[in-house]
Amino acid sequence: MIETHATVPGERDLYALVEEFFRSTFATDNAVITEAVRRMLAAGGKRLRPRLTLLAAEANGADPSKHLPLAAYMELIHVGTLIHDDVVDRADTRRGVNATAVDYGNRVSVLAGDYLFAWIFKNVTAHYPAPVPHILSSALADITDGEVLQLRALGNLDLPLADYIEIVVKKTATLFAASAECGAIMAGAPPLRVKALRDFGLYYGIAFQMLDDLLDMTASAAELGKPVGNDLTERKMTIPVILALESRDVDLRAGLARYYGDRPEGDDDGRIALVAAIARTGGLIKTREAIESYVERAKMSLAPLGNHAARAELNALADALGRDSNARTR
Ligand code: IPE
Ligand code: IPE
Ligand code: MG
Ligand code: MG
Repeated sequence: MIETHATVPGERDLYALVEEFFRSTFATDNAVITEAVRRMLAAGGKRLRPRLTLLAAEANGADPSKHLPLAAYMELIHVGTLIHDDVVDRADTRRGVNATAVDYGNRVSVLAGDYLFAWIFKNVTAHYPAPVPHILSSALADITDGEVLQLRALGNLDLPLADYIEIVVKKTATLFAASAECGAIMAGAPPLRVKALRDFGLYYGIAFQMLDDLLDMTASAAELGKPVGNDLTERKMTIPVILALESRDVDLRAGLARYYGDRPEGDDDGRIALVAAIARTGGLIKTREAIESYVERAKMSLAPLGNHAARAELNALADALGRDSNARTR
């Protein structure tokens, strides 16, 4: 099991609260879409975004159980993006079960994601004050923007690190930032504390995506519940690739150019050799160092919160990313 699934003190209760909320309340007016989304929820997932919302509220003196609907909307935005992402990335498993498109087809998957987003915003605009609806809709715009930027960067061995960071901030970190920020806002936190939580989510999210990139090369499909090696097959410029290329190793560059040029589906030996070359040229170790530095930034962002049990839990979530990346690069 990867570390981010592990329980830290207090975590289990929040997880159970979110699960019970979904079980008892989630339904839309469309039976097919409700079923597809329920299936994704039932399959598992770490529920990290709702957890950030609830911890951010708790860190500002609120009772997390009062903010379950908001936390649930964060997870549902995530689920909608996963349904679409697996179509875009041509991934056939998710959370240990078939990706939505495998069971329902691409056409229903596209429409289910669209419907879910519209349904979420219909509810959020009706029930939440400014700036919450604006933050959520901006986050979703960023996710789509990031996914398109990533597509345009496929196979570009000269992609600058700054462009990678922009993609990751948009496609992944902004939703973590929004999750924490909105939890703090709804708890009535003052601007300095709202910013502290947003920054935590942002840096945590960057580290999280870097770890996800690392796991795609170092974990098994059984551990992740989704395909491994898919990033290389799809010619993605992930952080281990970019940092390995910084070594200016000509064999690595030639190997990557060949692999990305051939688009070799199912060439496991070629992929394993490529991961070995990325490791040999420092790509995995440098990824771990980058993750550790974002984990530190995330934790430092929380300074305005003072000592609070919820702050300790947020720190523990960040530390888990560091430990995971360590375990994968030893
Ligand atoms: C997967 O997110 C998508 C990324 C941003 C890498 P998670 O790893 O949080 O997926 P679940 O929710 O646990 O399935
Ligand atoms: C995150 O990137 C995707 C989203 C923001 C939806 P990935 O494409 O790396 O996520 P996984 O690996 O499929 O979960
Ligand atoms: Mg994907
Ligand atoms: Mg990934």
